[in-house]
Parts: sequence; C-alpha cells; structure tokens
Amino acid sequence: MSEAMPEVRRDAGPAPPLAVLFELSHRCPLQCPYCSNPLALERAQGELDTATWLRVLDEAEDLGILQVHFSGGEPTVRKDLEDLVAHAAQLGLYSNLITSGVLIDRDRLLHLAELGLDHLQLSIQDSDPENADRIGGYRGGHAKKLALAGWVREAGLPLTVNAPVHRQNLEHLEDTIELAVALGARRLEVAHVQYYGWGLKNRAALMPTRAQLERATEVVEAARKRLKGVLVFDYVVPDYYARRPKACMGGWARQFLNIAPGGKVLPCHAAESIPGLEFDNVKDRPLSEIWRSSQAFQRFRGTDWMPEPCRSCEQREIDWGGCRCQAFAITGNAAATDPACALSPDHGALVALAEAESHREAPAFTYRRIGGS
Ligand code: SF4
Ligand code: FES
Repeated sequence: MSEAMPEVRRDAGPAPPLAVLFELSHRCPLQCPYCSNPLALERAQGELDTATWLRVLDEAEDLGILQVHFSGGEPTVRKDLEDLVAHAAQLGLYSNLITSGVLIDRDRLLHLAELGLDHLQLSIQDSDPENADRIGGYRGGHAKKLALAGWVREAGLPLTVNAPVHRQNLEHLEDTIELAVALGARRLEVAHVQYYGWGLKNRAALMPTRAQLERATEVVEAARKRLKGVLVFDYVVPDYYARRPKACMGGWARQFLNIAPGGKVLPCHAAESIPGLEFDNVKDRPLSEIWRSSQAFQRFRGTDWMPEPCRSCEQREIDWGGCRCQAFAITGNAAATDPACALSPDHGALVALAEAESHREAPAFTYRRIGGS
C-alpha cells in the first residue's frame, strides 16, 4: 500500500528585514529642534539592560538581519556600547554608529574601531560654528565634531556626514558640502528636515520657502557632478513640496525595524504617534515573532490596507503609500493617502500650510529636552 506524501506547507511570512535601528537611549547632550524622537522621551531608568540588548542582537542575526545601526538620542552615553559593537562583529552584522560626536574621545573611538565597528555617521548642524551650536543647543559642539572626524579618518573608518537642512541653515549649504569633503566623508546626506516628533513641533521655525528648496536642489545637483568620485550624495527633499511621497522606511514593515530604548519594537521611529497601534516589547517576545505578527507591523504591511487612490495606483508597490505618520499628523487618519502625494485630497492644504509657515517670521525653537515638551 502506498500513501501519497503529505504536501509540505511552509508559511513563508514576510521576508526578513534588512536592518534594525537600536535606539539605545534617548539621552543626548544636544537638543536639536528637529529631532525625530518622540516628545515623551524615555528616561535612563527605563532603558534596556546590556544582557537584553545582547540577546536582541542574537535574535536579529537569527532573523536574517544584516545591518545594525546604533542610534539614540546619543548612543555613546551607554557605557556598554563596546560590548554591543563587539558582539555585532562576532555575529557578522554590519554595524553603524549614528552619533552627534560630542561625547566620544579619541581612545574610545579607536577602541570601537578595533572591536569591529564598520561605519560612523556624524551629524552636522551647520558649517558655521556659531549657528551650529545654536541649533544643537550645545556650546562647543561643532568643534568637537570636527575633532571626531579626524579620529574617524585615523581609525580608517568610512564616514558619512548627515546634514539636516532647514530654513535656518540652508544659506550655508555650499559651505556644508565643502566641510564634508574637508572632513574626509565618503557620503553626505543632505536631508531636508522631516516633520515628526520635535520637527513637527518646530515646523514653522524650520520650513524653507519653495525658493530656498529650489536653490538647495540646484546646489546639490551641481556639487554631485563636481564631486563625482569624491563624495556620494543622498538628497532628501521636504515632503511638503513634493508631488509624490517617499517610500517611508522602504515601506511599512518591509525592510526595517526600530527598537526604542525601553524595548518597544516599532515599524518606524515615529510610529508611537499613531493611536491604536500595539507595540510588542523585546522583553516579552522574540524579535522574529514580533516581525512576523505584531499588530503594529501587520496594520500597514503590504497594500491591503490602502484606500483609493493608492489602492488602484501603479505606484503602490513603489512608494507603499508614503508615510503613515505623516498621514496621521496632517489628516488625523493614519490610513489616509499621504498628503505629500499630489493625488491625495489633502495635498493642496499641505502645500498651502508650507507656503504660509515658510513666509512668516520664524518662531523661537522649542529645544528637545527630556521632560521639556
Ligand atoms: Fe503613492 Fe498612493 Fe500617491 Fe499612488 S496615490 S503615488 S500609491 S501615495
Ligand atoms: Fe512613520 Fe513614515 S515616519 S511611516
């Protein structure tokens, strides 16, 4: 008697994420008014301990993740950063340190490189030291960043300079590009500020005019040609003046996950601003389970959740409907079409808002502070 072999069924589930962002701490000596962290910042006593972060690194590797980005707040406030970098290297994960650069000295940086750190990303507030320190709310910070870039070169680490731009530093963009070259950066991210978290709170103080944006785009395009082979550019335009949205996070729950300082696993850094999402914590569930089935990840994964016009749009698997957090911030409905899209019924209002705010006198910054929102 012969029996047919049972068909082996595998629940393929979502493909593994490419990268994970470890927000090790919300503590930070800088107070940038465009910080994407939530307004309600986690205090030190709520942060995960070293053993948990190490376990999560193991789980990330098991899940098939290739890159780990150590971020914050300021990740170097954590004394166990060395343990985490060394463990990531042992697991074969590509590690990137995203830092404000003001707390780390030469010895520590060289030691992190020896332990296997692969890459460093340094934020610059402006090329003008005085304005840079004013924007970051930290006197002397700019000079410390320049020193760090020298040690990064000494360590032989590749350096990316991250330059958030807005109406209060755009006039120095050409100098900022020259500064990135002088610092030995291989990549420069010129990123118009995105309006989440503290950036949303300070939107009127940051929003450029359309003319400023167009000028910035010309500057970047000219520099991209002039510096071919010297500096690679990433250029992020402000959504409010775009005609099509960006594929935020490469699409919700498709490529990335964020782990907040207390262990909540988020599909993006601003996801906690959306009501009704349930976030699992690495203290309670393995990362692979969270990636596959957490309510917050499932809610906007793929295209089934989309309303019209996204549902029948040929871009829907290119931009994945844009940004859910922005849709919520502007329309009050996280499942709405991203208003950055010209096909959204809310697009006209978004553009009008940008035009109006950018032409008014800039209000004073509300600086990012724990307990200070
Ligand atoms: Fe993207 Fe939706 Fe706009 Fe189409 S309608 S371009 S899917 S945001
Ligand atoms: Fe949350 Fe874009 S920042 S989806």
